[in-house]
Amino acid sequence: MSNENLIIFDTTLRDGEQSPGASMDISEKVQIAHALEELNVDIIEAGFPIASPGDYKAVKEIAETINNSGVCALARALDKDIESAAKALENAKNPRIHTFIATSPIHMEKKLNMSPAKVIATAVHAVELSKQFTDDIEFSPEDAGRSELDFLYEIIEATIDAGAKTINIPDTVGYNLPHQFGDLIRNIIANVKNSDNAIFSVHCHNDLGLAVANSLAAVSNGARQVECTINGLGERAGNAALEEIVMSVKTRRDMFHCNTRINTKKILKCSRLVAGITGFPVQPNKAIVGKNAFAHESGIHQDGIIKSRETYEIMRAEDIGLVSNSLVLGKHSGRNAFKQKLADLNILPKETKALDDLFYKFKELADKKHEIFDEDLINIASNIQVASNIINFKYMKVLTESDKKPEAFIKLNVDGKDMEAKSSGDGAVDAAYNAIEEIIQSGCKLILYSVNNITSGTDAQGEVTVRITKDDSIFNGHGADTDIVKASVLALINALNKYKQNPNLISSKKRGI
Ligand code: KIV
Ligand code: ZN
Repeated sequence: MSNENLIIFDTTLRDGEQSPGASMDISEKVQIAHALEELNVDIIEAGFPIASPGDYKAVKEIAETINNSGVCALARALDKDIESAAKALENAKNPRIHTFIATSPIHMEKKLNMSPAKVIATAVHAVELSKQFTDDIEFSPEDAGRSELDFLYEIIEATIDAGAKTINIPDTVGYNLPHQFGDLIRNIIANVKNSDNAIFSVHCHNDLGLAVANSLAAVSNGARQVECTINGLGERAGNAALEEIVMSVKTRRDMFHCNTRINTKKILKCSRLVAGITGFPVQPNKAIVGKNAFAHESGIHQDGIIKSRETYEIMRAEDIGLVSNSLVLGKHSGRNAFKQKLADLNILPKETKALDDLFYKFKELADKKHEIFDEDLINIASNIQVASNIINFKYMKVLTESDKKPEAFIKLNVDGKDMEAKSSGDGAVDAAYNAIEEIIQSGCKLILYSVNNITSGTDAQGEVTVRITKDDSIFNGHGADTDIVKASVLALINALNKYKQNPNLISSKKRGI
């Protein structure tokens, strides 16, 4: 069995962020980039720097902090895009420029209004220009899945000659079928004269639900890089899901002549982080990372599993980092056990003050909630960085009664001063949000509100994600509590703190192209 490396190129922060409603702020992108580095992805596509100042800044910050994965920036085959990508990547340890131009007849004629010869010349120039900044250049013939084969051979040969080290074949509109896409990759590798000088990559969209199947067909036919996203996030129906690609290749080693470097035990953590930040929850029956992916309900299956795990399980839950909801600590647990558990979960803070705060929060939660799971600890740990907040929660009272408009009384500390307001609304959360706005007077508009339970049971912590916007800036907020109204209030306060700290932040949604 050959052991070639299958390069995992993650585009959660670029194509994933192009999902309508999935925008992330810069600190969230940096947080995800670190999680991807920990997951051991080979390349992180950090963004599209020319698209907006926010995208540029995010790529720059990621390039400056990531050491163990390559960092890539996207650029159309235009000088200004390539120069902006190169500048954003200036301090990256392993920078890659990914440049692209469309090659399908419909795109060349209707979108670019360019002749095929001009498209080739533009692509070659883009690769040559990129080469002035880095040796690691990727070229994509956009909409390759609907391009003419002979034209693809020609442009690929020319761009490899110009210096492209990776040729990425995108099925931009998710139109291909697995056997057809596999043939496409095999034909390209066989017919492009200098194909030995490049690595072939694939980038599949999921419009027909075939992104993973198409990518795997390509791997069987010689592709050695797959572009994918956590949870399959991405434009329209999304991109190929990283976790499905990686676990397919790992589980069916008998069928694939390659393996990835991914630390699969970090998959679930990454999936939850991306779901939490974007507010796009993972469906329960989603392969690999859905809540039910390793749950066995039927008596026959349970009986089989008890007798021998392999009767109904093809993968081990531990391999994706599922610690089977292990009950960890309770209200009588001491500080040492707590500290050890945080260390086991890789979330032990360096400063004593942060550990004290976490321990206090843990005790508070243990008073309300009988059983504390790993997920609860991960969650309180990610919510603890609140030291520099301008707005702090003090108190809330919410009254709901059938046939009466709910009312909320909220007390906040804003810039060291206690402030309070009372308001009504269409529901308890709406009333609380109206009261908060009466105090803060931000003028921000709520554009996303999403609730997810972290563990199961009615005493479980609910996690709320909100997204607010003002003047083209977008701010995400997260809050968790066993009381869903309080979690909602904390999430809004979290987003408003980001707004207060940086009201003119230009989000990556304000695209300049
Ligand atoms: O889907 C696509 O074609 C892309 C390219 C930029 C690779 O995202
Ligand atoms: Zn794409």
